[in-house]
Amino acid sequence: GNKNINAKLVLLGDVGAGKSSLVLRFVKGQFIEFQESTIGAAFFSQTLAVNDATVKFEIWDTAGQERYHSLAPMYYRGAAAAIIVYDITNQASFERGKKWVQELQAQGNPNMVMALAGNKADLLDAKKVEAEEAQAYAQEHGLFFMETSAKTATNVNDVFYEIAKRLPRV
Ligand code: GTP
Ligand code: MG
Repeated sequence: GNKNINAKLVLLGDVGAGKSSLVLRFVKGQFIEFQESTIGAAFFSQTLAVNDATVKFEIWDTAGQERYHSLAPMYYRGAAAAIIVYDITNQASFERGKKWVQELQAQGNPNMVMALAGNKADLLDAKKVEAEEAQAYAQEHGLFFMETSAKTATNVNDVFYEIAKRLPRV
């Protein structure tokens, strides 16, 4: 039969990596060139049908600014899934992403489905982080990896769809 699954999902990553833009693309099919930096966190929900189930994502889009770091556990605690976002044109954002992976693996739900998203894949000329490096890191740490673009919509639905497929079927 068809299953309905509710899944709390959190996005984490450096300031400006594109967390809000990925959510806006996924939930509303829109992109804003001058997206404002998130304050605290923002909540969205979106439903996705996968083969045997309907998954309702309850999405927490967190703020990347360091002064909000201490709030993060409220959003990742109990989360079924996380998307760690970095900007492919910014090496420091990749390093920040790795820190989030460490924190989640130390403090988060051990069964959490985790995705690593190398965002702004449309900015090929400014690329600083090679996909091979990110893919190797992801594989070593049990995440799946995709390059995404909130601007062009490349792989955005795919990340959420892949998470939905990997969620435990209760
Ligand atoms: P904080 O809320 O401050 O943590 O940032 P964020 O991770 O939510 O980033 P946000 O979505 O606000 O995006 C930051 C900037 O990058 C905005 O100006 C976006 O328009 C731009 N941006 C986001 N995603 C993409 C993308 O895929 N391609 C390009 N070219 N720009 C993007
Ligand atoms: Mg934001």
